[in-house]
Amino acid sequence: MELKDQNSTYVLANGVEIPCLGFGMWQTPSDEVGVNSVIAALGAGYRHIDTAQAYRNEQCVGEAFRRCNVKREDVFLTTKIWNDSHSYELVKSSFDISLQKLGTDYVDLLLIHWPNPQALRDRWQEANAETWRAMEELCKAGKARAIGISNFRKHHIDALLENAEIPPMVNQIKHCPGVIQTEVEEYSREKGMLLEAYSPLGTGRIFESAEMKDIAAKYGRSIAQVCIRWNLQRGYVPLPKSVTPSRIEENLNVFDFEISEDDMDYIAGIDAGVRNASNPDAVPF
Ligand SMILES: NC(=O)c1ccc[n+]([C@@H]2O[C@H](COP(=O)([O-])OP(=O)(O)OC[C@H]3O[C@@H](n4cnc5c(N)ncnc54)[C@H](OP(=O)(O)O)[C@@H]3O)[C@@H](O)[C@H]2O)c1
Repeated sequence: MELKDQNSTYVLANGVEIPCLGFGMWQTPSDEVGVNSVIAALGAGYRHIDTAQAYRNEQCVGEAFRRCNVKREDVFLTTKIWNDSHSYELVKSSFDISLQKLGTDYVDLLLIHWPNPQALRDRWQEANAETWRAMEELCKAGKARAIGISNFRKHHIDALLENAEIPPMVNQIKHCPGVIQTEVEEYSREKGMLLEAYSPLGTGRIFESAEMKDIAAKYGRSIAQVCIRWNLQRGYVPLPKSVTPSRIEENLNVFDFEISEDDMDYIAGIDAGVRNASNPDAVPF
């Protein structure tokens, strides 16, 4: 796929198009700051927004839509089912609340946020199967144009596929310089999923890395831009988060330079001090 701009699209397994770069919203406050960040993102040209029930800011997206002239159908919108709703009924009821907050009657992508909630640790396979069955129905009804997973590793994917009628189309995982999950990357692709990169800037920790400072200077770009470009060139959909208008804009300006193959490998190996992805079977939530 040619990466021309943020609206260049990948095609998911069911034919739905997804813009190659999205706007992350974890830790974005659910107040005017949050609303204004979404307005700034839409104004800068993002057409892909990544929120979640757990972020408690879905209503900022709804409010931003009400205040902007951007058409709903022109934006790819993702939300995620939280760990307290891993059952058939709770997916349906929590999803309705999400739609109300988002001010829409469908999402473009609905993900299971984590595969193994702490409260369901002895029966996560069964809970995910039920959760997925409800999501498949939402997909068939057009209320979720695509469905997928997040933080799933190989054994979680295998368990889900045992009962799935519709295979997941996306796996959203942590991916940034120094944090690469090769096994889950390869397995997700083998199973037909597109990969999304969460924390592409290491949740802000990447900026202290001396190696990243040097490589950014070499390309005459910011560290954020190099990270985002590196994610794109690895075939991931990066989801950088910011509430700062100048950064929101800066993070889109990544389509007019190319990182060499040698530097792609070099960046992959940098230990930038970013925490590894959490073990989804041991998270305390
Ligand atoms: N599925 C999951 O379990 C999961 C987990 C984590 C994240 N995610 C998704 O991935 C998104 C991104 O990950 P993330 O929130 O961990 O963080 P991130 O995008 O890696 O980094 C965000 C941090 O970097 C700062 N920043 C952004 N652009 C910058 C720039 N150009 N220059 C300097 N600083 C910059 C932001 O500050 P300001 O905001 O103050 O500008 C913020 O502190 C999330 O928002 C969420 O949508 C998903």
